[in-house]
Amino acid sequence: MQRNHVSRRTILKTGLGFSLSTMIPATSLLAGTNKLDAHLVAKPARVALFGGQNPSTDVWSYNNLVPGPEMRVRQGERLKFIVENQLDEETTVHSHGLRMPHAMDGVPYVTQKPIAPGESFTYEFDVPDAGTYWYHPHSNSAEQIERGLSGAIIVEERVPIAVDRDMTWVLDDWRLSSQGLILGGFGNHMDAGMAGRMGNAVTINGEIPKMFEVRAGERLRLRLINTANARVFGLDFGAHRPRIIAYDGQPVEPHEPQNGLVVLGPAMRIDLIIDMDHEPKQSVPIFDRFYPAQAYRLINVVYSGGSPIRNSSLTSPINLPANTMPEPDIERAQHHDVVFTGGMMGRGMMGGGMREQMMRNGKMWTINGIAFEGPVMNPLLRLEQGRSHILTLRNETAWYHPIHLHGHSFRVIARNGRGTRFREWQDTVLIPPRETADIAFVADNPGDWMFHCHIAEHLASGMMGIVRVA
Ligand code: C2O
Ligand code: CU
Repeated sequence: MQRNHVSRRTILKTGLGFSLSTMIPATSLLAGTNKLDAHLVAKPARVALFGGQNPSTDVWSYNNLVPGPEMRVRQGERLKFIVENQLDEETTVHSHGLRMPHAMDGVPYVTQKPIAPGESFTYEFDVPDAGTYWYHPHSNSAEQIERGLSGAIIVEERVPIAVDRDMTWVLDDWRLSSQGLILGGFGNHMDAGMAGRMGNAVTINGEIPKMFEVRAGERLRLRLINTANARVFGLDFGAHRPRIIAYDGQPVEPHEPQNGLVVLGPAMRIDLIIDMDHEPKQSVPIFDRFYPAQAYRLINVVYSGGSPIRNSSLTSPINLPANTMPEPDIERAQHHDVVFTGGMMGRGMMGGGMREQMMRNGKMWTINGIAFEGPVMNPLLRLEQGRSHILTLRNETAWYHPIHLHGHSFRVIARNGRGTRFREWQDTVLIPPRETADIAFVADNPGDWMFHCHIAEHLASGMMGIVRVA
């Protein structure tokens, strides 16, 4: 008992883990036409974030697991899963990043009646694009996601690229007490008006990691998913040379990360190819350096003693086949401006009285001058269906915002007015303070789509709106 307590304190102080096990792969659940339908039960559970035999942290889970089971389908198949709500409050499940009919998008009151306690809802839709996605509630998300409700959705390519191992790392960030319990205070003013709820313990696949065992010579496809409410990760793989092959599930020309950092804002995903080209028995740390003053070692990559499985790195192609998004017509696209303001320490916030009134209502942020009061509101933008559109997103705040659009993927065509090198497809674009990003897409999916910052405390305090495609 006492010893347990001490080791937990150590973990919290350093932000890294000392669990004795190696990495546990996420539990996977097959969905899709020819298999059993996946069944997710949202309910309280107790899990072992610190590893070992004694689960000590009370969470909200899918099927008693944190993260929830990984759902896997093949591109072009149908994803079907039933969500049963055994929580004491309503919930929904949003399949983040997947393009689907509006009715399946999991937004309470906008796309469906929320799932009341004791009720179930069946989500079912065809999956057009391969890639790495995730699911999470869209009700009271600042609390429900933080308490553990999230999981991976992997859509396999029809012909996958050759790798020795295909792994998913669900990255999460927790604010825990010294007893290892989730602290309350969800959505408080300080978190809402600043960086969001930053935690003090980081997990990979639901466990504070210590080491990740690899075999010399192997080629790994590593799918990173940031399910944290607020933490941005900037992973430094040290002596390894990862190549990015997909952002937010969407293929990109393979390239090494800029400045050596693999940066993922909340809700973002990145697929990496890493060749394990060190010697047996070596140990190589992976650091998270996004916040330089608080850099920490996330995990050690430990090479087993086994001899290399090949003598030189694989040379087979790592380019992923393109997905099926229509190509936006940049020349003829309609332009729209979207301005984000608010938060603490920012300029461009409205004058005193208005600001105070907003804060009394718990609203800290606006999009084009309007704080989301939901659950249903007039659209912020109306986009003509079938046309190409360019949105210039201006972050006029002092904070980072990962901005997410439902129902579509978009190309990030420019940052601060300059064309991007890869014109990457994303569904969530991280915009640094006082910067801009131009995104382009064909509005081909009709409906009222949520458009919001994915820092859960920001969206809960106004940074959300509706984009109507009709
Ligand atoms: Cu991850 Cu509105 O979604
Ligand atoms: Cu934000």
